[in-house]
Amino acid sequence: MTKRVWIFDTTLRDGEQTPGVALNAREKLEIARQLAKMKVDVIEAGFPVASKGDFEAVKGIAENVKGPVIAALARANFRDIDTAWEALKNGENPRIHTFIASSPIHMKYKLKMTPEQVLEAAAEAVKRAKSYTSDVEFSAEDASRSDLEFLCRLFSTAVKNGATVINIPDTVGYSTPEEFGELVRVLRERVPELNNVIVSVHCHDDLGMAVANSLAAVKNGATQVECAVNGLGERAGNAALEEIVMALVTRKDVYKVDVGVDTRQIYRTSKLVSSLTGIYIQPNKAIVGANAFAHESGIHQHGVLAERSTYEIMTPESIGLPSNRIVLGKHSGRHAFFHRLKELGYDIPEEEALKAFEKFKDLADKKKEVTDEDIEAILGEQVVKI
Ligand code: KIV
Ligand code: ZN
Repeated sequence: MTKRVWIFDTTLRDGEQTPGVALNAREKLEIARQLAKMKVDVIEAGFPVASKGDFEAVKGIAENVKGPVIAALARANFRDIDTAWEALKNGENPRIHTFIASSPIHMKYKLKMTPEQVLEAAAEAVKRAKSYTSDVEFSAEDASRSDLEFLCRLFSTAVKNGATVINIPDTVGYSTPEEFGELVRVLRERVPELNNVIVSVHCHDDLGMAVANSLAAVKNGATQVECAVNGLGERAGNAALEEIVMALVTRKDVYKVDVGVDTRQIYRTSKLVSSLTGIYIQPNKAIVGANAFAHESGIHQHGVLAERSTYEIMTPESIGLPSNRIVLGKHSGRHAFFHRLKELGYDIPEEEALKAFEKFKDLADKKKEVTDEDIEAILGEQVVKI
């Protein structure tokens, strides 16, 4: 049987840490409902201790959204954990996600704790969370810049005290795919307790490698990937959910895992998140950008019109887009132009169509994109669009 990788969506927690983004409880609930419709495995709904508003938002999601596990974040202290549980307790499948930093830099300058104190705090935090729910995730913040021996001890301690998910974050997006894949492999080898839990990764995109690092982790045995819609998240963001999912689905021959996500909901989810967060999606963004399924050059248009797989490695329909887009511009050839004439309902003699094509080429040199209205003007008559 193929191994199943869990998709843990953190759009509503780390994604909301995108500078300039603040979602209210109603907006968070709307996104959570759409995430459930898309069938993600886990929704990290927020950080309840952070504000009254976030507490209410997590509570609302836990009480109203059925299907996925609903997780809430808590630092490794009792107040955070108790508050997270208060918000989650009426939910169907609640998970407490507790974390503490494990790198020398974070322990010294941020936590001002010794490694022994961090071990102790992690054990107490996991035990406290476990007293509330069987589903407890433990993260070692800045894991990728931590001492390996210490990280092994920390993860082993967390599992022994009840953690059922161990998360390995590349908090500052410093790793390369080779290093990060190797880290996951070595941790699995050295910490036998990891065989009995879900091994998760959480990669940031500071060097633009969050998706590649997450995929390298899957190749090396990670069974949960944390990601956010449109790649939202702290600083340069998290691994983009749509890229992770479509890479795992499209290149199943390489990754050899299954995911439970309904990919046909991806486009709709991306649009909803963009409109509620106000974060615009760059046109050339993989999977969900406006150009991801658009073809501009004559050579590509000719190929796609003959057989889509010439230039499309996945179909627009598979992410919930009704069709691809043939953009008419200065690189377009007659195949695309004649195809568009047909789509617009014109059935004109070849000679006339060729004349129109010449005029189209002249116009295309002066404009970025030739629209249907331009074509109608070229042909000198009004048409009813199909
Ligand atoms: O980036 C990070 O390390 C986090 C943890 C809280 C998982 O967001
Ligand atoms: Zn993060």
